Formats: sequence, C-alpha cells, structure tokens
Amino acid sequence: MADPAVIRVFDTTLRDGEQSPGATMTTEEKLQVADQLVRLNVDIIEAGFPIASPGDIAAVKEIARHVHGRAVAGLARAATRDIDAAWEGVREAERPMIHVFLATSDIHLKHKFNISREEAAQRVKAMVGYARNLCPEVEFSAEDATRSDWDYLCRICETALKAGATTINLPDTVGYSTPTEYGDMFRYIRNRVPGIEEVTLSAHCHNDLGMATANTLAAVAAGVRQVEVTINGLGERAGNTAMEEVVMALRTRPESFSGMLTNIAAEEFVKASQLVSRLTGIPVQPNKAVVGANAFSHEAGIHQDGMLKNRLTYEIMTPQSVGWGDTKLVLGKHSGRHGLDARLRQLGYRLNAAELKTAYARFIVLADEKKHATDEDLISIAESCKDLA
Ligand code: KIV
Ligand code: ZN
Repeated sequence: MADPAVIRVFDTTLRDGEQSPGATMTTEEKLQVADQLVRLNVDIIEAGFPIASPGDIAAVKEIARHVHGRAVAGLARAATRDIDAAWEGVREAERPMIHVFLATSDIHLKHKFNISREEAAQRVKAMVGYARNLCPEVEFSAEDATRSDWDYLCRICETALKAGATTINLPDTVGYSTPTEYGDMFRYIRNRVPGIEEVTLSAHCHNDLGMATANTLAAVAAGVRQVEVTINGLGERAGNTAMEEVVMALRTRPESFSGMLTNIAAEEFVKASQLVSRLTGIPVQPNKAVVGANAFSHEAGIHQDGMLKNRLTYEIMTPQSVGWGDTKLVLGKHSGRHGLDARLRQLGYRLNAAELKTAYARFIVLADEKKHATDEDLISIAESCKDLA
C-alpha cells in the first residue's frame, strides 16, 4: 500500500516532453535521461508513445528492460492497436503500465472524433478493460478534462474505475484552467464518484497561461496523489509542469500542503536539467525557477549585503539542495561596496576603507560600461588602488 503522505511523481519528459518541437531524442539519449530519472528517484517513467513510430516502440522496449525499481508506462489512444503497441513496449518492465487516453470535452468529441458522449463512455469502458486484461497497472486520462462538463467527467471516471483503471488522470491539456478551478474540479470528482478513493488521482498540466505549477499544486491540495511533470517543464507549446518547481514548492512550503512530500532526490535536479537541455538542444532560460543559471545569483547591492549577513534574507532554499555549487554574488552596476569587498577578499585582496572607496568608484564606472565585471577586471582595479590612500 502506497504511503498516503507521499505524492507519486510520474515523469513524462520522454513522452510529452519529447513532443516539444525539436526535442526528439535517440534511444541512446533516452536511456541516459531514464538513468538520470532513476537517480532522481521518480516513481513512474513514461517512456514514449509506442504506436507513434518504430523508433518509439524500440526506445520504450529498451527503457522497459533497462530500468529497475519503478514503473515504466507507454501511452496509447483508446484503440486496440495502440494498446497492443503500448503493451508490446512495456511488457518486459519490472512494473509495466499502460496509459490510455481519450478526450472528454465536447469540443474534442465533436471536432476530433465526431462521436457522442455516450459513444466515448463506451469506448472508455471497452479500452480500459482491454488494457487491464493485459497489464496490472492502467492509467486512464480524460484528455481536455478541464474543458469537459464536470458531471460527464464524473461518469467517465466511474466508467474507467469500474473497467479496471488503477490511476485516473484529469489533464489540463491546453493550459486553460486556474488553480482554484482545477482544485475544485478534483474536489467535485472526489465528492461524487463512488469508489474514487480506490484509484490514484493524478494531475497533468500544461503551461499555456504560465499556471502549470500553480495548478498542479492546487490539485495536490485538493487530494491528488500523483503529479505528471517533466524536467525543465519541457513539453508541447509552452510546456508541461516542471518537476523541480513542484517538488521544491512542496519541500519549501510543507505547511501549505499538509506536509505532503515526494521521494525525489532534489540534489539531482541541476544535473537532470543540464542533461535534458544538452540532449534536446533546448536551452534553460536563466531566470527559470530552481534550475536556471540565475536562480541563486544576486547582483543588487541590498541583496548582496543581506546575503553576506545571513543567507535567509534572500534565499528560500539552498543552491546545494537542488544540485548547484554555491550562491553567486554577481558584480554589476547594481552591486554595493560590501559585495565588492567580499569578492575582492575571496580573490585575496583586503583593501582598507580609503582604497575600497576608490576601488568602488572605479568599479561602478566599469560596471556601467560592461554587463558584468570579471575577476580579471576586479583584480586590475584592486591592484590600481593598493597603497593609494
Ligand atoms: O496533455 C494531455 O492531455 C496529455 C494526455 C495524453 C495525458 O498529455
Ligand atoms: Zn500533456
């Protein structure tokens, strides 16, 4: 029985993340990412969409054979061909999982499939049942759940549950929801679907309005026990929920989530981020939370001064806790005398008050011209000020 205080982390970097334009990875590269996901200690690795291509099924098979100690999932539309391919991909895993999805919003039912709600419900029943006959763990996702009618969603959840789904995922496929609404949707389902507590409820968000992390956390607060995430928030369009953001939010603000935690080894985040960025060629924005190059850098004088007195002034988590070396005090035109003095001391220069005053005046002139002063710049300023006073 899973620990009810632990949130299961379902990583979909290799599936939804890889659907990001230009993010295609070879099997060898996917194996490297899978190894890093194991080091991160994720619970489930969604390895790919086996029906998509011969390369995809081959990669899913390799990952299924290679990975130990966690579930490996393969995605399938609600169709027997897809489910057979997904099963073929994951069957050799220690813990295989088939992930079946079907859209439930009227927009999708009408324009994508031209089928009725009734027909979709029948399809869910048949295909979840079909997958469950093959595989002990089956996740059902109601694609575009957040634009679906909530009462119909209740019916779909009940159908999937009765057909044997072990996890039910309600994705915000187009990143349309808001935190309050997404949390309320899960509360609605939990209050109305008989037996829903027997399955794991899961959140899966996209970042089209920049709310993927907030929505995922709202779902956790509403009782969801699985989060679907990617490294760096890689994914279709504006991306998926970033694993590092959700994990660190739970860790940094336990009081807001009744102490819910994950089993993730957070000190592996920076390595994971850099690996995925290198393999996909998609850079990480410098101001990206947790793993961006500036996430633990301070340039402003007031901040540097505070940091030099006590790190708690401007740091809510330590850089080491997510795999960075140390905080960076970047010297630029917003930096103050304290920051300059601290860096010069690290470089071996202890200037007296008068020397420091002159050095700082020279530094500010330079910093106005250059974005950042290098250590060589600082050394040359320090040398020029020694014995001046
Ligand atoms: O965003 C989505 O709806 C998906 C499903 C396939 C789970 O990625
Ligand atoms: Zn998705």
